[in-house]
Amino acid sequence: MKIANKEYCTIWFENNIVKIIDQTKLPHQFVIKDLKKVDDVFNAIKTMEVRGAPLIGATAAYGLVLAILENNDQSFLSKSAENLINSRPTAINLKWAVDRMMNKLSGVNSEKILEIAKNEAKEICEEDISFCKNIGLNGLRIIEEIYNKKKDTVNILTHCNAGWLATINWGTATSPIYHAHKKGIPVHVWADETRPRNQGANLTSYELNEEGVKNTIIADNTGGILMQRGEVDMCIVGTDRTLSNGDVCNKVGTYLKALAAYDNNIPFYVALPSSTIDWSNKNHKEIPIEERDTEELSNMEGLDEQGKIKKIQIYPKNSKAMNLAFDVTPAKYITGLITEKGICDASEKGLKDLFK
Ligand code: MRU
Repeated sequence: MKIANKEYCTIWFENNIVKIIDQTKLPHQFVIKDLKKVDDVFNAIKTMEVRGAPLIGATAAYGLVLAILENNDQSFLSKSAENLINSRPTAINLKWAVDRMMNKLSGVNSEKILEIAKNEAKEICEEDISFCKNIGLNGLRIIEEIYNKKKDTVNILTHCNAGWLATINWGTATSPIYHAHKKGIPVHVWADETRPRNQGANLTSYELNEEGVKNTIIADNTGGILMQRGEVDMCIVGTDRTLSNGDVCNKVGTYLKALAAYDNNIPFYVALPSSTIDWSNKNHKEIPIEERDTEELSNMEGLDEQGKIKKIQIYPKNSKAMNLAFDVTPAKYITGLITEKGICDASEKGLKDLFK
């Protein structure tokens, strides 16, 4: 998708260097960062220079390419794989991508290992782009249906950033929106600000602006009243881990939006590539929910009057805070899962029938 009218993907590999868009600098600065060592990749994921479930998986895959370039040794590779999986605990894509790479690389001692690693990491990225594109085409049908009935702008609420910046391209939740926009269907997005890191404001609104999609940033608590007023036609969110029973773990606050949508009879969809499905788990209590530094809550970053990025403290210094990064939306509140293969019920049967 475009930034300043130039097409980008969120990650690419050039001259044995991994190139990323540093998302901690957006929307105020557009910085392309070089990752040269597997530790750089670990830090980029940990500090959220790259974030979003599919993108951290793909970045970790390239991390293993860098590990081989650094030290072509199986025990270094296994240790690197383990570290990468632990860099962020909730999104299953991270483990999925690292396991997929290690299936190809474990025990390979020939010179060919680098070529195999590069090809597999590239394939993970290409597959994600094609899956996200198909999610868009499948989700487009729902937006079209609403538009055909309403004959007016379709208002879509989303939470956090499940946009192209969270994937390699297209996004998951945003892909149906971009496809609708490209087809000339009038869409408008309510972008939840998504405290504390403000991915909705800083990333979703930013990327929609760059693509010319109308959007409005709202405080996280505003969705409910907009739904009561009939100003939301549907919700689409992403997911970091979809359980085999259809429960969805996503950015904290998603659950509350699903409850409000349910109470107001508003369709609530979750968009996901199959790499986000945790087939081995149907118990949400077993999901490791990331708890991040409370400084993300108590400090805020923005532009000062001179246009410089400045961080300020907004809480009483001695107040205690807590920063859980994800929550779980039970399947019963989800209208459907939009995947690369089609749309299914958020249930064990729905998922199994689609991914036989
Ligand atoms: O903590 P983040 O910014 O990595 O969280 C991202 C989300 O919660 C997204 O909704 C999710 O990864 C879906 S990605 C298409």
